[in-house]
Amino acid sequence: MDLITMNNLTNEESISLLEDAKKLVPVAEGSVHLPLLQGKVLANLFFENSTRTRLSFETAMKRLGGEVLNLSEVGSSVKKGETLYDTMQMIDGYADVAAIRHPKQGAAQYAADAVNIPILNAGDGAGNHPTQTLLDLFTIRQGQGKIEGLNVLLVGDLRYGRTVHSLSHALGRFGASLTLVSPNSLKMPEEIVSDLKSMGCDVQESDNLSSSLESSDVVYMTRIQRERFPDEAEYEKVAGIYKLSKENLSSVRSGMMIMHPLPRVNEIHSSIDSTQYAWYFKQAFNGVPTRMALLCRSLGVDVPEVIG
Ligand code: NCD
Repeated sequence: MDLITMNNLTNEESISLLEDAKKLVPVAEGSVHLPLLQGKVLANLFFENSTRTRLSFETAMKRLGGEVLNLSEVGSSVKKGETLYDTMQMIDGYADVAAIRHPKQGAAQYAADAVNIPILNAGDGAGNHPTQTLLDLFTIRQGQGKIEGLNVLLVGDLRYGRTVHSLSHALGRFGASLTLVSPNSLKMPEEIVSDLKSMGCDVQESDNLSSSLESSDVVYMTRIQRERFPDEAEYEKVAGIYKLSKENLSSVRSGMMIMHPLPRVNEIHSSIDSTQYAWYFKQAFNGVPTRMALLCRSLGVDVPEVIG
């Protein structure tokens, strides 16, 4: 099983992964030892910066008793000019599953087409980031108990942000209502909005964050993706455009969740960290059990019903 976009999973498959992830939380926390993936090897292929995604894939694999190969550009033959196709031929022989992050949109699909082992897209340029979406859905269910009927605000760089491309699609399919908040120059790509509308999703677009905060159940902040801008001057025009601090939260719903895939630059003031609204660090932890569930699924290993 490859996971390149959320289109590779039905709603039922997504929910069953999230249920497996829930069972695996004690293993992710290190309080239960469960070597389900002993003898298996994950290749972590990161051609772009990463902290959470790479490390949570690695700890997920290791806590399940598996091994991890890490490829980075520095110290590999990528620097000598080896193609992604050729690199993937080696990985096919050295590992049982691979997570790949690459600056080019479409690279994960290209890698999947080149090999037999399962490929998990850990972010392809401004394209998709489905493993992030699974941990985002897990976190929303943890906080709200459901997805259907929620008002979700997706805020920031909706044009280049791959997290919100995958997440909006999944939320639309699960029946959430979406408000897409971005500056005009960073709106959600037209084809994604029309896709959402054609699946019957209630979608609004706005450039105003404060006017939508009160009625939201989830506010998903994102970083302006500086590295994707063709021109630094264009980045400067929108840098720091949406910022949340404690003062903005006086009339929000009590169970409202603030999420962020991280890293944050200045979107969420640290004064929010100690409030009930801050979910972003729990969200980052949730990458471990969800990626555990995904690794098991892609390797054909069943997660036991009762763990512990
Ligand atoms: C995101 C990414 O790489 O797309 N980070 C992550 O995986 N948690 C978000 C970002 O870099 O802004």
